[in-house]
Amino acid sequence: MKKVNVVIVGGGSTWTPGLLGCLVKFKEQFPVENLTLYDIDEQRQEHVGKFGEVLFRETYPELNFKYTIDKDEAFNNVDFVFCQMRTGGLKMREKDEKIPLNLGLIGQETCGPGGFSYGMRSIRDMIELVEDVRSRSKDAWILNYTNPAAIVAVALNMKYPDDKRIINICDQPVNLMKAYGKILNMDYHDFEPKYFGLNHFGWFTKLYDKNGEDLIPKLRKIILEKGFAPEDAEQRDASWLETYGMVKNMLEDFPDYLPNTYLQYYLYPYYKLSKLNPDYTRANEVMDGREKRVFEECDRIAKQGSIDNLDMVHNDAHADMIVELAMSIHFNQRKTFITIQQNNGAINNLSDDVMVELASVVGANGCEQFHFGNIETFYKGMIENQYAFEKLTAEAYFENSYQKALQALTLNRMVNSAKKAREVLDALIEMNGSYFPELK
Ligand code: NAD
Ligand code: G6P
Ligand code: MN
Repeated sequence: MKKVNVVIVGGGSTWTPGLLGCLVKFKEQFPVENLTLYDIDEQRQEHVGKFGEVLFRETYPELNFKYTIDKDEAFNNVDFVFCQMRTGGLKMREKDEKIPLNLGLIGQETCGPGGFSYGMRSIRDMIELVEDVRSRSKDAWILNYTNPAAIVAVALNMKYPDDKRIINICDQPVNLMKAYGKILNMDYHDFEPKYFGLNHFGWFTKLYDKNGEDLIPKLRKIILEKGFAPEDAEQRDASWLETYGMVKNMLEDFPDYLPNTYLQYYLYPYYKLSKLNPDYTRANEVMDGREKRVFEECDRIAKQGSIDNLDMVHNDAHADMIVELAMSIHFNQRKTFITIQQNNGAINNLSDDVMVELASVVGANGCEQFHFGNIETFYKGMIENQYAFEKLTAEAYFENSYQKALQALTLNRMVNSAKKAREVLDALIEMNGSYFPELK
């Protein structure tokens, strides 16, 4: 079996330790020869790197593991790039959330003006990453889940329309399937989903079991009666429990399909605004919670020099999904994943260029999405409005266009007023400084 070479970009990410643990879990099915962590922040990455050294020495000694901030060391002779960077770090996320909130708008990492701000920052670094990889390993698969994945996917597709080895993917559909699995006492791997929409903006229309029975009617009934919670509810912060809880409300209003949790911000913007605290946002929760926990645990294990808890730092659906995706490509397993792809007719009545999130079969030749057919007016209207926001955001970046940025934000359902759009755009431009392209 040919062993693969993997680089994890954003080596210092809070999700990396979980991913390292997952590579250990899959070492028989997906044997890795060389594994490298790459980050631009040497000190931050060192915490995870030192933990990795202990982990692999004890559980995977045949693996060559290193961590680096040197691009040549990271990107030469690579088969898979797992990419999870955060331009500007959690400190900038905090500002993306707080600036809109202080102007009476929703402040969220990937949606609304916060998502716009994060998107404008991510595009440049993601383009640099693609260049860095392609100049050294032209055939590497770039599996990206850097957020906001919707905007990153649109921008990378504009810049590299022919590069079919960049796959943008999000773990939220899998997280939702895990939660459905818990309700039904089933393994989510046994579901065959039908899903449509944009990233953080989609719906499950069918969820077949192995016998071909659609489980959605059953799930809808249970959720409407009992509510909805993440599979790992005990480990989740309060804001995530509240978010999952909103699925019941969405189903009461729109019972057709099972919604992605992020739709709560688009469907109930005033209500969500009333619940968000401008002094303590999700970024604060993450910095005080997951970030602190992960780094403390990494440091403890590095100091102790032995692993006493393999499950320790976040090992959720996220890591499994990325490793299973790489395996499906490498061994041409042609398993089904929900990925972000150019529409190209998969949804009949949406234009070809839309970056849709759909179930697709993934193998050695990349993603082949299932044909979906037509979507109904309500969903079409929602998606076209949101895609116009995403596309104008990416165009504003490439064309240095203040006008397009203003149009993007005005269209966003979390802004809607051109006056507010201008206010928040000006504040975000000032806050981001050189992270943003110049918008004229
Ligand atoms: P984090 O800030 O803890 O980690 C990000 C790391 O990226 C940091 O160590 C930072 O130094 C590094 N980094 C920043 N710019 C870089 C660059 N240009 N090149 C290389 N490294 C760089 O953030 P996190 O909360 O762990 O999240 C990491 C990323 O994964 C974010 O983009 C997050 O939104 C994304 N994510 C996406 C999904 C999804 O569903 N698509 C799920 C989970 C996380
Ligand atoms: C979900 C989303 C991701 C997001 C993640 C973590 O899984 O799909 O895109 O990055 O949540 O969010 P958090 O607020 O916990 O950092
Ligand atoms: Mn996501």
